[in-house]
Amino acid sequence: MRKHEVLAAAVAVAAMVLATDTMAQGRTELGRTEYMSTCAGCHGPAGRGDGQYNQFLRLKVPDLTTIAERNGGVFPAERLYAIIDGRAEVPGHGTAQMPIWGNVYNERAVEYYKGFAHNPEQFIRVRILALIDYIYSLQTRR
Ligand code: HEC
Repeated sequence: MRKHEVLAAAVAVAAMVLATDTMAQGRTELGRTEYMSTCAGCHGPAGRGDGQYNQFLRLKVPDLTTIAERNGGVFPAERLYAIIDGRAEVPGHGTAQMPIWGNVYNERAVEYYKGFAHNPEQFIRVRILALIDYIYSLQTRR
């Protein structure tokens, strides 16, 4: 490779790293915003299960910061996806006292796109993945 080719390659790699980084940051930011507005009321601002609505719930709200710790040090992202989406039954997850976010986000997608054609599954997926990223960042042990 000639000198300017090496330089061009280096610039391309740097741009890629930067783009991936910015995308990851965007996702974490979306996850945090979404968490604070939608989940913190029950799970608590820091995920410790101490939200202000707990007094009205029958079930104990789980501490989201110890999910990996309680699962032998493994963060079960796929299982969390199913639990948060909630539209498919999750074996061993009991009778849900948690809202079914897959349905909630489905309705929000309709509001968001104001009647224009859209793919609600994409809207739902982006938000659930962002939430899982954010919950991962809250783990006491990773
Ligand atoms: C109305 C209160 C409430 C809100 C709001 C709420 N949750 Fe929950 N969540 C619960 C309860 C109660 C449980 C335990 C349910 C069960 O065991 O059936 C739970 C369980 C969970 C679990 C399983 C944790 C574990 O250790 O098994 C995850 C993950 C979770 N919630 C994520 C979320 C996310 C993400 C949001 C926001 C989009 C959210 N929750 C909003 C009440 C709530």
